[in-house]
Amino acid sequence: MESGLSSRADRTLKELLPAFAAAAPPKHNPTTAVDLSTAQNEVLRPELLEFFKSTVEDKATSEVFALPASNGGDPKLREALASFFNTYFHPIHPVKPEHIALTAGACDAIENVIHAVCDDGDSVLVPGPSWRKSHATPPSLENIMKLRPEDTDGFTPMLKARANVNIIVAQPPTYANFDNYLVPSLQAVYDFSADKSRIKAVLLCNPHNPLSRCYPKKALLEVMEFCQEHGLHLIIDEIYALTDLNNAPDSAPNFVSALSLTEPLRREGAVKVDPSRVHVVWSASKLFGMSGFRVVSLFHPVLPTITDSSVSTQGCIISQQNQPLISALSLLTTSHVNTVASLYLASLLTWPQLPTLLKLNTERLTSSYRLLATFLRKWDVDFVTPSHGLFLFAKLARHARSAGEEKLFFDALLRSGVKVADASGFRGVEGDFGWARIRFSVSEEGLREGLGRMEVFLEERK
Ligand SMILES: Cc1ncc(COP(=O)(O)O)c(C=O)c1O
Repeated sequence: MESGLSSRADRTLKELLPAFAAAAPPKHNPTTAVDLSTAQNEVLRPELLEFFKSTVEDKATSEVFALPASNGGDPKLREALASFFNTYFHPIHPVKPEHIALTAGACDAIENVIHAVCDDGDSVLVPGPSWRKSHATPPSLENIMKLRPEDTDGFTPMLKARANVNIIVAQPPTYANFDNYLVPSLQAVYDFSADKSRIKAVLLCNPHNPLSRCYPKKALLEVMEFCQEHGLHLIIDEIYALTDLNNAPDSAPNFVSALSLTEPLRREGAVKVDPSRVHVVWSASKLFGMSGFRVVSLFHPVLPTITDSSVSTQGCIISQQNQPLISALSLLTTSHVNTVASLYLASLLTWPQLPTLLKLNTERLTSSYRLLATFLRKWDVDFVTPSHGLFLFAKLARHARSAGEEKLFFDALLRSGVKVADASGFRGVEGDFGWARIRFSVSEEGLREGLGRMEVFLEERK
């Protein structure tokens, strides 16, 4: 059958899907498996549901049925976001509403900023391990139809599906001190690149997914200098900001937003960074567990692009000194906004109880983390101690010596009723097998159930 697809969409199908499609997933019952593989935050759900109900009841007016505002999106939400960033992100220059373009979550922000700063066929450097799913086995049509959104997430679809921008991953030599290798690993892939002129940006995630640690200020300054030296944009995804855990190790760096660093940058002998090249992405999906605030989620099993679900308003991009870029983004994302999500987020960000809510988030995340950490220590499983975030990175398949052994282990675990995000697609340390991202941001009951199943599974393999 002649598909009638554009050459762009045809290319996406041919190039992108083989990277996502796994061989047929092992048999498991998705309704009974405890899912610790995603990056959703469920710990505040009861409180947030109450808040949502009262917001709709008390604040919704007939305006929510009207067309959303153009020119960057709902002014009230941008005002609330600016004040939120000024309170919690310590920007050097106060963030103003006009520095912000609203998007349908962080994915939408990244896809559109990439579209705005890269041309077809350009490349972006991403430090590994990176938020990315990929599977080497080309798909059969049958397997393509079985893909779910979480099988196709990661930066790849955002960069590749529409903008056709390549990702070059800079892999670190170790997980423990990954931050020490940020610039050296970026420099290495840059130097090895056949066509440096096509590299347009560095995209990194701070706090880090999947390592749940922050880059120290020094590493961030160095990466800014690196970008400056090579004329690159720096796009920093700060979606996990403020998901702090209590009692993080003393050695763990605090979260430092790029907004607090862009200017002045005048260390001895340093290059001054051009603040018009630094762009921060933030979304409420992780902090406030609202990944689902996409009113129309058009996941298509054959042409999966995350921003098909782009009728939402819980993300944004902040660029303080690049008005043409903000204007371009405002244009690109005009129809992506959702007035109900907008009203909800603006109300949440201006709620006098917000500091208490953030504290509660930290307390609950910390207590779930402790439960998981105690379990892992009991089983002598090595993990990167998190200081932030919703998950941790652990070498759960301790004895895996190859990709095949690793796959057998995680497939068997899934059949035993626990799903974790095995790290095969994260492009971490070369040749170091057995790692997985395990989420703890679930209810205590759910986590206990998952750990109970894992215990039985590990017992059987002793
Ligand atoms: C680093 C990172 N950026 C972006 C996203 C997606 O965010 P959103 O749901 O706001 O599009 C995720 C979700 O897992 C993520 O981990």
